[in-house]
Amino acid sequence: MLSRVFHNEDGKDSTQRIQPRGYLFSIVKYFGPFLLLAAGFFTFGARYFDTHILNLQSPRSGFLPCITVEPSGMNRLIKPPSSLSHNMSDEELFWIASFAPQVKKYPFNRVPKVAFMFLTRGPLPLFPLWEKFFKGNEGLYSIYVHSLPGYEPNYPKESVFYKRQIPSQVAEWGRMSICDAERRLLANALLDLSNEHFVLLSESCVPLYNFTIIYKYLQRSRFSFMGVFDDRGPHGRGRYNPNMAPLISLNQWRKGSQWFEVSRDIAIYIIQDTKYYAKFKEFCRPPCYVDEHYFPTMLHIEKSNLIANISLTFVDWSRGGAHPATFGKEDINEESMKKKLLSGWECMYNGQHSSLCVLFARKFAPSSLEPLLKLAPAVLGFG
Ligand SMILES: *[C@@H]1O[C@H](CO)[C@@H](O)[C@H](O)[C@H]1NC(C)=O
Ligand SMILES: *[C@@H]1O[C@H](CO)[C@@H](O)[C@H](O)[C@H]1NC(C)=O
Ligand SMILES: *[C@@H]1O[C@H](CO)[C@@H](O)[C@H](O)[C@H]1NC(C)=O
Repeated sequence: MLSRVFHNEDGKDSTQRIQPRGYLFSIVKYFGPFLLLAAGFFTFGARYFDTHILNLQSPRSGFLPCITVEPSGMNRLIKPPSSLSHNMSDEELFWIASFAPQVKKYPFNRVPKVAFMFLTRGPLPLFPLWEKFFKGNEGLYSIYVHSLPGYEPNYPKESVFYKRQIPSQVAEWGRMSICDAERRLLANALLDLSNEHFVLLSESCVPLYNFTIIYKYLQRSRFSFMGVFDDRGPHGRGRYNPNMAPLISLNQWRKGSQWFEVSRDIAIYIIQDTKYYAKFKEFCRPPCYVDEHYFPTMLHIEKSNLIANISLTFVDWSRGGAHPATFGKEDINEESMKKKLLSGWECMYNGQHSSLCVLFARKFAPSSLEPLLKLAPAVLGFG
């Protein structure tokens, strides 16, 4: 307000004021020096606030800059970080990522995005297929990759995977470190306020439909897709440890697929949890595979009204054995894709029967890339 009066008398501001000129003139005449001093302090203060409190770079130049504390403040929150690299510990990262606005209406045009989170060992052999999938949908997705530390990707600058690696740590299948990696992916993705859906994928996953179909399916769903079921056998309830009671009872114990799609609210719920985390870390160790039980059991107990209890990612267990089937070059043809992956499904979607139930599939070997790229335009609807 002060600098505004100052600007006015300076003749630089053309905004109309209602005070008579003489009145304003006498104010400036008697209080001018004071106003100048106050404006100076105020500007300095605002600048100090900008650069030191809000941590803004590049202080504006010029004698008396306009004061725009609020816009920079909000921009700073709503703009995604320009780089994914940071040196925050998980504790610091989860804390920052758990912030959520309590005012539900966004005061700006927010276009919800889908965060595609790839949990990999090293390279993503199927990335050319994913590139085709993402093409033309800029602004509706973001990509995050967690790979084993030490792996140095070399995606070309034009690639959507270029510099999308998050700071990663060793993650071992079946151990808590794999859930840590998943939570790390969620937390990094939460830093972008526009991300609304969070899909966990592996390097062997492929999309079965084009971006438009998958985006709409997620965007319109009232539920998050976490596979959750009660397996009464040795590989389900048999892994329950009574030391988890009373927090978790045997009949609350659930199993599910690790590959999930969750909403922003559920993602925040997962990263803020310490209660279930501590129990699972202590009492679910191989042969209790924590990635198959921790999120399914916790969400079953705490958020059952928000989860669909089914996964969107298909994997073929039909051959039997401890590991699911892998699709290689010779398995990929139009007929088998349609028969095995694209038809014959039945599920509930927002309380209605639906035949669109499976949006992603694994496990595809690197050799499947060539035939997939060829089939994609006709069979998958993109490329
Ligand atoms: C991260 O980097 C900043 C500045 O480079 C440094 O002050 C801080 O101590 C680092 N934090 C950690 C956890 O390494
Ligand atoms: C998922 O399962 C829970 C518990 O059995 C149930 O309350 C919930 O309605 C189910 N979700 C959907 C979408 O059917
Ligand atoms: C996505 O696939 C559907 C069904 O195959 C098709 O109708 C639609 O045109 C495709 N959209 C784009 C953008 O290719």
